[in-house]
Amino acid sequence: MSKIRAAITGVQGYVPDYVLTNDELATIVDTNDEWITSRTGIKTRHILKGEGQGTSVMVTEALKGLLEKTNTDPLDIDLVICATVTGDSIFPDTANIATYNTGMTNAFGFDLSAACSGFLYALTVGAKMIEGGTHKKVIVVGADKMSSIIDYTDRTTCVIFGDGAGAVLLEPTEEEGIGIIDYQHHGDGSGEKYLYLVAGGSRKPATVDSVMAREHFVRQNGRPVFKAAVTGMSDVVKKVMKRNNLDSDSLDWLVPHQANIRIIQTVSKMTDFPLEKVMVNIHKYGNTTAGTLPLCLWDYESQLKKGDDIILTAFGGGFTWGALYLKWAYDGKG
Ligand code: ACO
Repeated sequence: MSKIRAAITGVQGYVPDYVLTNDELATIVDTNDEWITSRTGIKTRHILKGEGQGTSVMVTEALKGLLEKTNTDPLDIDLVICATVTGDSIFPDTANIATYNTGMTNAFGFDLSAACSGFLYALTVGAKMIEGGTHKKVIVVGADKMSSIIDYTDRTTCVIFGDGAGAVLLEPTEEEGIGIIDYQHHGDGSGEKYLYLVAGGSRKPATVDSVMAREHFVRQNGRPVFKAAVTGMSDVVKKVMKRNNLDSDSLDWLVPHQANIRIIQTVSKMTDFPLEKVMVNIHKYGNTTAGTLPLCLWDYESQLKKGDDIILTAFGGGFTWGALYLKWAYDGKG
């Protein structure tokens, strides 16, 4: 009997309507389109506006679209894993809210937190639930409302991030070679000092002082993060390629986390990938944290063919990083 693997059988994204341009940011902080474009490659990012609008709003829209597109009954979904660091609240989980919103009453759901690597980790967990034979339809979603934890008086971070969600449907396949084949993930807690939130967790709960000190916003030392991201993603992609006898000629696509166009270009160079084979949409959405990888798959879906060899890679706060190799399961639609 051939091995059961998890295959992605559909992908759907959602970004909010409001588009925050570089020119608008230049009216808020001391920056300009030329600096942002040349340092990050970002032109626009989407922002979820409105009172009481949390990440679950975007997750719900992505799930609704995914069910419709894949012609799936919500009652057939077994599990939803939502990768996010900006859930609606510390609990209940955003996955739970979204399964309720979409009528997935037979599903259980939980959130998984690994910053920009969240989707990759969640995809791995979802794949293992399918491979175990106990779950037939699993949705993995990566979503973040980064605008809720970004300080729009800090020009070094506010230009980078945006809001968005992307979801994939995983189903079992026994078709030779198709599906999620291999992965390698890493973590290094010593990276905390370069990218973090000071307050809002159990170590330093919210107080009037913490709010006044703007301690609930992302703080980052960009240069070490840049360096670790480039090294981490390049190394792990090379490892996964090597042990699967792959090289950049035999692979069809590299899907890197969309953090900064210069990080993407450097990773592409260090792994010998021509840029034509590298998925890039950072100019439109900025860094949506757990959302970037599924939003890339969504944007490029129509170009994908059954049997395409694809490596996804991510690096994020923690530090967390990894790479995952899969063979695409269907000809592009969408
Ligand atoms: N507009 C204009 N000037 C700015 C801006 C801005 N938005 N931001 C910083 N500057 C200034 C700085 O103040 C500094 O001025 P100074 O020389 O007078 O002190 C100058 O530009 C250079 O600043 P650097 O921080 O050295 O700029 P750098 O080239 O490193 O780019 C950046 C900064 C874009 C943050 C880069 O380090 C980076 O992308 N790092 C990776 C961070 C990242 O992607 N994090 C996302 C989360 S983790 C992940 O997804 C991988």
